[in-house]
Amino acid sequence: MNTRAPIIVIVIAVLAVASAAWWWSENRPPAAWSEDEVAVLESLWLESLPDLPPDPTNAVADNPTAIEFGQQLFFDTRFSVNGGISCATCHQPERHFTDGLPKGVAIGMSKRNTPSIVGTAYSPWQYWDGRRDSQWSQALSPLEDPDEHASNRLMTIAIVVEDKKYWRMYKSLFGEAAGVDTMYSNIGKAIAAFERTIMPTTSRFDEYVAAVAAEDRERQAALFSDDEVRGLRLFIGEANCTQCHNGPLLTNNEFHNTGLINFPGEVPDKGRIVGVREVLEHPFNCEGPHNDAARKECGELAFARTGADLIGAFRTPSLRNLENTAPYGHKGQLATLADVLAHYNAAPDAMIGHNEAKPLDLNDRELMQIEAFLRSLAAPATFEQDKT
Ligand code: HEC
Ligand code: HEC
Repeated sequence: MNTRAPIIVIVIAVLAVASAAWWWSENRPPAAWSEDEVAVLESLWLESLPDLPPDPTNAVADNPTAIEFGQQLFFDTRFSVNGGISCATCHQPERHFTDGLPKGVAIGMSKRNTPSIVGTAYSPWQYWDGRRDSQWSQALSPLEDPDEHASNRLMTIAIVVEDKKYWRMYKSLFGEAAGVDTMYSNIGKAIAAFERTIMPTTSRFDEYVAAVAAEDRERQAALFSDDEVRGLRLFIGEANCTQCHNGPLLTNNEFHNTGLINFPGEVPDKGRIVGVREVLEHPFNCEGPHNDAARKECGELAFARTGADLIGAFRTPSLRNLENTAPYGHKGQLATLADVLAHYNAAPDAMIGHNEAKPLDLNDRELMQIEAFLRSLAAPATFEQDKT
């Protein structure tokens, strides 16, 4: 008996030290940010968002009358076969321009999830598969899509011509009536001018980065919990999220396969590989007759990649205000942020093509911390207010 006692004491002491060490590693205050980390944080900061580059394909892109005209078109339900659907049916301002559904619903059901259009004026490509190369050419598709507005070019133009206010604005921007495709693309250009004003606003994350830049430790502690700091450190470090979700909009606007699993029974979506073929051929693309740019300004289109790595690839979405954009993924197949993180943690083989993301093997606490950080990006969008 006596010979055992010291062993028990040693075992208890070892266990006590080990659990104290574990407790300390989980709960000690996070380390201060290194210089390199501060540089990454500042690159994600809304302050770092450059001015919106001009859109040479759209001569009225920044024209105040076009913005006002476009805003009215965006919310006008007359441009639909049943008079009940507008762009804002699916892109609802109060939901960060999404609809809260797995897939958009209007006259029928869209094939994919409604993305937030906040800040997408910065992207050279529109849609999950980038099958349009400008916002004005994108805006023309839902109007004629049988599942969305289910209208057509002639009906769209007729409404503009017959509405006194619209026709006055149209003429001041584009002149008298012209060919159908020209007039139709002009209407898209006004909608795009409005969409260029839809931008994210300062989130708690941005205020935190301002406090980091100012080396104000007290304000940092007031703005971010230790869990959020750890989640942010994982996001930019071990979990490698900034490989794709980088820059102030938290997207590289590139196409990646992240192995999302479909709803049962759905045919796997080929994504960008089909989208890139479509945009290269599309009559309203940057090289087509209706764009206002010189051909030499169509670099994105001329150099678009078409390789097999684009099978099952989708455009990296912005992570700003995720709070308001559930469900997630191109088919809305992930209901919650916890589902998104569980997916990245496991990184299953892709159903089609090759999953670029590697399994993370993080524990539940670490996943919760990344989620806590992601929620700090919540902030509403602003857009040009109705001036009428
Ligand atoms: C039925 C719902 C619905 C309606 C109505 C609708 N959209 Fe969309 N919108 C979607 C869906 C779904 C997608 C994604 C489709 C895809 O990627 O294949 C999308 C994509 C977009 C995008 C691309 C955003 C990005 O990040 O790639 C823009 C811009 C956009 N819509 C603007 C508009 C405009 C302008 C209108 C009105 C003319 C409109 N939408 C009408 C559902 C809708
Ligand atoms: C290889 C590039 C890549 C990496 C790495 C990556 N993402 Fe993504 N992310 C994407 C793409 C692409 C999508 C859209 C996938 C789809 O719908 O098929 C996406 C979708 C998301 C979404 C859903 C957003 C929405 O609006 O639908 C969230 C949230 C997200 N990622 C967070 C993260 C986090 C957190 C990490 C790190 C753990 C991460 N991502 C790592 C490229 C990436």
